[in-house]
Amino acid sequence: MNNFTFYSPTFFAFGKDSEDKAGELVKRFGGTKVLIHYGGGSVVRSGLLDRVKRSLENAGIGYTELGGVKPNPRSGLVYEGIDLVKREGVDFILAVGGGSTIDSSKAIAAGALYDGDFWDFYSGKQIEKALPVGTVLTIAAAGSEGSGDSVITKEEGMLKRGTGSDALRPKFSILNPALTQTLPPYQTAAGITDIMAHLYERYLTNTKDVEVTDRLIEALLLTLKHEAPRVIANPNDYEARANIMWAGMVGHNNSCGVGRSQDWLSHMIEHELSALYDCAHGAGLAVTMPAVFTYELEHDVMRFAQVAVRVWGCQMDFAHPEVTAKEGIEAFRKFLISIGMPKNFEELGAKEEDIPKLVDVLFEGSDGKLNGFIEINKEDAAKIYKMMV
Ligand code: NZQ
Ligand code: ZN
Repeated sequence: MNNFTFYSPTFFAFGKDSEDKAGELVKRFGGTKVLIHYGGGSVVRSGLLDRVKRSLENAGIGYTELGGVKPNPRSGLVYEGIDLVKREGVDFILAVGGGSTIDSSKAIAAGALYDGDFWDFYSGKQIEKALPVGTVLTIAAAGSEGSGDSVITKEEGMLKRGTGSDALRPKFSILNPALTQTLPPYQTAAGITDIMAHLYERYLTNTKDVEVTDRLIEALLLTLKHEAPRVIANPNDYEARANIMWAGMVGHNNSCGVGRSQDWLSHMIEHELSALYDCAHGAGLAVTMPAVFTYELEHDVMRFAQVAVRVWGCQMDFAHPEVTAKEGIEAFRKFLISIGMPKNFEELGAKEEDIPKLVDVLFEGSDGKLNGFIEINKEDAAKIYKMMV
């Protein structure tokens, strides 16, 4: 196991009606004037926004608001948010929504305390400080409620890039599984796919003897394999949603990724798809992961065979472990299709003729190589995109 430091200071309030604690928690973490940031309207329609406002009012906390965050959040609204925060003297950002809203909130939080262009942070500059952020989560997916990460898309060139800093970890996150019951089935499935991707990205490691994190990841993948069909069959299954929601947090706050190298090639390759076609990130991953894993398979057949046996219930073929490894990837692919995810470029709305453009943007700002479980160059990336057609 590699040396590591791990700092995960987020306070979690989990369960039914926990959004009523929003005001009390903002106060506890020092907020006096809040920016409530939200998305395209689901929180207005469900009445959640009003409940959160009431909770702030009951705690005597003033607020201003900024809605309109789009999935795959854009830089334009971040600039608007930074101006608003400075103008109104906001000292706490409360994200009410999904990963996109939380990521946009984190970008505003960092940009508000920085004299330069916030995009510097998404081009390699390290974030040292940010305004405190709290979240009321409405979809189990990105894991941004417990992570120090944020992913933003710059409108010019549709460049989707991420940044990470402990300064961005939410002070608190409110997780009420019942709030996710209004999600359309496709978004529920895309969220589950994203959570599983975060687990696979950590599982695909070149570090030896990381049994505790291997086993944690396997447990979470098994949980999702069990709970996903239940929630797709019955969207009101609170217990299934509760397990999925906590899996999403644990899967991405890095408790099961410490001390080991990680992959993230599937995410890098997918981000260009959701940037160009504005598809759901999880849906893009459903098409991307089987192709990336197949391309990576030869690098460490036994690792893919291990997850095939331990998670997907495949029989180990000791004479031909690559057969078992491939069966595991196929079982995962079929599972994703069974919960309603797309299986290829066409179903995702992507176009084969765009592959050169996707590859160019993917490698923009790099030295021509991307490193994860394996190292890839432009030619490899083009082959991987081609496998998704
Ligand atoms: O905008 P509204 O109207 O709220 O609708 C949203 C949106 O259309 C809807 N939705 C959310 N909760 C709902 C709901 N509809 C009905 N009922 C509810 N309870 O769902 C749609 C998707 O929302 P979004 O916030 O985009 O989803 P998600 O949480 O999957 O976030 C995706 C973004 O997170 C990034 C992705 O790249 C993508 O931009 N990621 C962020 C990470 C991080 N910060 O750590 C890591 C991830 O790997 C990921 O890259
Ligand atoms: Zn993701």
